[in-house]
Amino acid sequence: MTKQYESDVLIIGAGAAGLSLALRLAPTHRIAILAKATLLESNTRYAQGGVSVVMDENDSIASHVADTLEAGAGLCDTEIVHFVVSNGPECIRDLIQQGVDFTRDKDTNGYHLTREGGHSHRRVIHAADATGLEIQTSLLTQVKAHPNITLYESHLMLDLVRDKQLGCVGAYVFERNKKEVMSFRARMTVLATGGAGKVYLYTSNPDVATGDGIAMAWRAGCRVANMEFVQFHPTCLYHPEAGSFLITEAVRGEGGKLLLPNGERFMPRFDPRGELAPRDIVARAMDHEMKRLGAECVYLDISHKPAEFIRSHFPTVYARCQELGIDMCAGPIPVVPAAHYTCGGVMTDRNGCTDLAGLYAIGEAAFTGLHGANRMASNSLLECLVFARSAATHISQHIADRAMPPALPEWDESRVTDSDEEVVVSHNWDELRRFMWDYVGIVRTTKRLQRAKRRVDLLLMEIREYYGNFRVSDDLIELRNLAVVADLIICSALRRQESRGLHYTLDYPESDDNRSPITTILKP
Ligand code: FAD
Ligand code: SIN
Repeated sequence: MTKQYESDVLIIGAGAAGLSLALRLAPTHRIAILAKATLLESNTRYAQGGVSVVMDENDSIASHVADTLEAGAGLCDTEIVHFVVSNGPECIRDLIQQGVDFTRDKDTNGYHLTREGGHSHRRVIHAADATGLEIQTSLLTQVKAHPNITLYESHLMLDLVRDKQLGCVGAYVFERNKKEVMSFRARMTVLATGGAGKVYLYTSNPDVATGDGIAMAWRAGCRVANMEFVQFHPTCLYHPEAGSFLITEAVRGEGGKLLLPNGERFMPRFDPRGELAPRDIVARAMDHEMKRLGAECVYLDISHKPAEFIRSHFPTVYARCQELGIDMCAGPIPVVPAAHYTCGGVMTDRNGCTDLAGLYAIGEAAFTGLHGANRMASNSLLECLVFARSAATHISQHIADRAMPPALPEWDESRVTDSDEEVVVSHNWDELRRFMWDYVGIVRTTKRLQRAKRRVDLLLMEIREYYGNFRVSDDLIELRNLAVVADLIICSALRRQESRGLHYTLDYPESDDNRSPITTILKP
């Protein structure tokens, strides 16, 4: 018998989006939150720079909107941008009330605002360089204490469950420790599953970022959009032991300069905004210079600033660099670009509603129209918070219209056996991430994309066969999702016959408003 759980709202994901939604709904509804690893592990937990928000009296909503539209290279939905930016200040006030301790400005005793690429004002509120950890731990403390919220960690959602009349009625979930499948039914289900950085070999994202929500919504019949726009963060630490460690853009915001191995500053040759040009421009310039010189990395130098300033603004980055023998107060940090953010996702409206009744998507898993062809720094956490709020309002207004679904069908394992070839799964993981890096990276060509398409088709076929014959495992569930997401990225990239924002192809190096759709929409 499949174990069954029930709640009013099932939230899949315990990052900024999922947790802030849960806290808004919990006073009136029973909430279940799933996290596939520990409750802390998420992209949110690693966010460094901060949350962009208009708080300075010299700044304005119009300026934040204009900067976002400019970074998005003509593809943002202007109304959505305005909606998100103008709701920002209130969402930040709510976070502060929930206990989030943002860094204060010593001189004014207001909040310290830093600067990042694309922003024409200082407008990034932060908790030193560990903003995500501060948000995640503060929200988790509240969530854990709430009697209406039940948390399930190490519970990996396998697939959504659809009903012909009701739409989404819940999900099948794999309990990783006991290795058993259970079902969760709910009146409303929300995907807050984050992005898909792990589809690339090198990424700033933690292991949980395998695009599960996007793949599952796609399998359940939802449209996805703009998957070709994968953001590569320019500055990830280049060191054999560094894993996926990010060097926050705020280092450049506070005066850090990018240098070639010979010490020459190169960004002004590519953009008048220099190191603070939007990320697509900086990452592409770095890629160009590294290829031109055959260099393995470039360097980020802020050592001209006082050591006390560096240590107090960037304690996390400073400590990690020290551990690895790099003193950022005395010299430059070796850096390379890595996959960082999924601009595309499950298509939603401004309330987080997807194409499937009863199913919402919020946070990095969603495509809302905010980011266009390139997300501006620190607009992601803002999007998580604003859409958690609008989805909460919509859910509260409509949940009474939906009855609790009947018990979900049993999970059927009668025709599968234990795998005797786990090595196939790990091999396919490596292959997928490597060809995505080699063929679908910062600079693309049609030929490389077609090569990637042939390989992903083969993988999808093998995975389908494997999935049909063997009992599920966590690696297999994630691989199945990664392959779907990779395919969506490749198909979207092949459709966009121009270069724009994060999608750059040598075959169509210019932007072309007539040739390409505004938004690349894929329908299952
Ligand atoms: P996440 O925080 O990624 O949470 C996803 C949750 O879903 C996790 O709990 C995970 O366990 C769960 N999950 C996923 N799949 C399943 C499944 N199948 N079953 C069950 N649970 C599942 N943005 C900014 O705005 N400012 C920044 O300064 C910033 N810095 C960043 C630094 C780094 C290193 C990274 C990686 C990202 C950064 N970003 C930043 C981006 C931002 O952090 C993310 O876009 C944002 O945190 C996403 O939040 P989320 O709630 O949508 O998803
Ligand atoms: C960073 O701190 O550089 C990341 C900011 C972001 O991704 O928005």
